Amino acid sequence: MAVREILKLGHPVLRRVARPMTAEEAASSETRQLVEDMVDTLHAAGGIGLAAPQVGVSRRLAIIEIAAGGSRYGELEPMPLTVFVNPEIEVIDERTQGYWEGCLSVPGLRGVVPRHRRIRYQGFDPLGKPIDREAEGFHARVVQHECDHLFGTLYPMRVRDFSRFGYTDVLFPELTARPD
Ligand code: NI
Repeated sequence: MAVREILKLGHPVLRRVARPMTAEEAASSETRQLVEDMVDTLHAAGGIGLAAPQVGVSRRLAIIEIAAGGSRYGELEPMPLTVFVNPEIEVIDERTQGYWEGCLSVPGLRGVVPRHRRIRYQGFDPLGKPIDREAEGFHARVVQHECDHLFGTLYPMRVRDFSRFGYTDVLFPELTARPD
């Protein structure tokens, strides 16, 4: 188990457009180690998504895992651990919806971010198996958030209403009083 350091907002790697991975690179033992470490790091931090740039690797790779049985985000439909290489998003529903987001690179803060309600995303797993799925609601939001990381965008850059952006313990004192 190797938990890597998560870079925080302000680190230049987070603002960089990550380089797409070649098939050889994605299948390499180095990438396998990176993915294992990212899973360990995600679990240790208690998050649901992590992109390679957040651990200092400027490559188009991200992981998402939504555990069954809900989380601090409320009841959610689970999503098994998925590793995305070179994901691309196609918007199916142009309408957007605002909801609270947080980010492991922006600890302690939350903000309402408008995201497309429905998307199709395509990419590959590290062994080259194609991924082609549609997602809506929270799933679509998480995928859009992680893909943003691969293009140097962090969610605070998408906040429009700054009355709904701030410290979690100030915005939600009742939530943060609960140990989780
Ligand atoms: Ni994030």
